[in-house]
Amino acid sequence: MRRYGSIVAVVSVIFAMTTFSRSADTKTSSQSKIQKRAFGTADGGLAVDLYVLRNKSGMEVSITNYGGAVVSLKVPDRAGKFADVVLGYDDAQGYVADKAYFGGIIGRYANRIAHGKFTLGGANYSVPKNDGENALHGGLKGFNKRVWTAKDVSKNGAQALELSYHSQDGEEGYPGNLTAKVVYTLTDNNELKIEYLASTDKDTVVNLTNHSYFNLAGQGSGDILSQRLTIHAQEFSPVDATLIPTAEPRSVRGTPFDFSQAETIGARINQDDQQLKFGHGYDHNWILNPNGEHKLSLAAEVYEPQSGRDLEVWTTEPGVQFYSGNFLDGTIHGKEGKVYGHRSGLCLETQHFPDSPNHPAFPSTVLKPGQTFHSTTVYKFSAR
Ligand code: GLA
Repeated sequence: MRRYGSIVAVVSVIFAMTTFSRSADTKTSSQSKIQKRAFGTADGGLAVDLYVLRNKSGMEVSITNYGGAVVSLKVPDRAGKFADVVLGYDDAQGYVADKAYFGGIIGRYANRIAHGKFTLGGANYSVPKNDGENALHGGLKGFNKRVWTAKDVSKNGAQALELSYHSQDGEEGYPGNLTAKVVYTLTDNNELKIEYLASTDKDTVVNLTNHSYFNLAGQGSGDILSQRLTIHAQEFSPVDATLIPTAEPRSVRGTPFDFSQAETIGARINQDDQQLKFGHGYDHNWILNPNGEHKLSLAAEVYEPQSGRDLEVWTTEPGVQFYSGNFLDGTIHGKEGKVYGHRSGLCLETQHFPDSPNHPAFPSTVLKPGQTFHSTTVYKFSAR
């Protein structure tokens, strides 16, 4: 079985390489070609690559087909000075060893499933518990630990990289053969657009996100506590001590979870609040869109006062997990020898709510044969 798996993997990498070079070769202008270079090897020895997307304003995003991780993201400050604003590693080895999900595509089910159990169509499913009693971020070897097939799908002057992955029926305990596609597009407006598509041959659950850790002052430059955050939400999902949402949403009003007006992240993070204690800081789902309406809307904004860099997060998803990097503790050595200390990066993981398969009242994460899962998130950068 293992051998079969590795033959399939080798064949799919060869396929990926030919698909990539074929589509890259058909481009006439060298500007529209995504540049590609070797990024090291995945577990099992497969070679993986780094794809560098650029736009007219000089913004640059590198993405590896190992886990689909956003490896670096270089944007200007108000004086036009570029910095890399995401945490990450210098090579594939870093991502193979990673336990913090830096920049990766998270699936098949992002966030937690209580006790690693859910019921679907009358059948009971068990998925591995890899976060105490719960399942987290797709399992022991989630989508962030898989080799994706890359294809240059640049068009109309915007560089775009399509990554595909076929997740087999039963992989990490999830039912159905799932074909997932993630398209990263870099626009000339300094937007990184991420489109997620998936289809299945059996009823399954799907929740896909990207786990980039942002630090708008520059990766490795200290904590994110002085950065200002807005989340366009009136409610959040309170959790139990294991970070599983309780049934009822809670109003943010009068709590340290109210980011409906821009607020410094560190202002209330150490308050004596049971929810902050459970999360060791912020590690919660904000409810953007209680009706589950599928419309690209402004979810959140981060502003870094020194550099003037600003990030807007737009999404079609009903929720966003704001995680303030509470588990970073200075033991990770990342890009260019930088050490990532406590709260030195923040995540805004657009998603369906945690543990949705066990909460019939939450917007559904069920995907059925014949349906196409489609979700869009845009990270838009500017400076002021
Ligand atoms: C998510 C979770 C956190 C943590 C990080 C990765 O944000 O909600 O609890 O697991 O991913 O460390």
